[in-house]
Amino acid sequence: MFFYKFTTKFQRLENLITQTIIIAMAVRQLEKGEMIPYDLLLLADPDRKLLEQYLINSWIFVLEQIETIMGVCVLQNIDNQIVEIKNIAIDENYQNKGFGKFLLENTFEIAKTKGFEKIRIGTANSSIGQIYLYQKMGFDMKEIRKNFFVENYENSIFEHNLQAKHMIVFEKNL
Ligand code: ACO
Repeated sequence: MFFYKFTTKFQRLENLITQTIIIAMAVRQLEKGEMIPYDLLLLADPDRKLLEQYLINSWIFVLEQIETIMGVCVLQNIDNQIVEIKNIAIDENYQNKGFGKFLLENTFEIAKTKGFEKIRIGTANSSIGQIYLYQKMGFDMKEIRKNFFVENYENSIFEHNLQAKHMIVFEKNL
């Protein structure tokens, strides 16, 4: 049927466009002396003091498209086998377009290349979308750090009318 053929052709075109966009993007490590994208990092972690502390011992990666930084991901090793995503964020103008998934997939490859066997990520009980996304990307719930956000953050955090109290830690085999 014409309609069916048209839809198939359209889907192929859409796939081609998506692939072309993805080819034009790259994830790379931020070099010493380059500007740290705090505006993005603060989207994922509103406490600048805590952020500064873990950045000291972390690798910072950026998702870049033609010199525009669209996302950031911060990795820190827990031990020789396990690495943690301390912070991941996509610029608000580019959210919900699949870039978060793309950045996570690339981060898994980077962590594997560095020799890690497992990757962890923690998020708040109130971060409903993130809890969904991480499980969709193969993470499994490992532990709950009760009252983590209440005890470690100066200001209360609310999302979806829920207080961020506990940290849910997810882990994935690489
Ligand atoms: N609410 C509901 N669903 C969501 C949300 C959300 N907040 N975020 C992602 N999803 C879902 C999408 O609907 C999509 O589902 P689908 O594949 O079934 O269609 C899937 O997750 C993937 O979505 P992407 O478009 O790849 O996600 P995006 O590019 O928006 O990146 C991210 C996700 C990084 C969480 C981004 O929304 C963001 O930067 N948010 C603000 C900062 C933040 O919360 N960072 C994580 C904090 S935890 C930490 O940093 C360790």
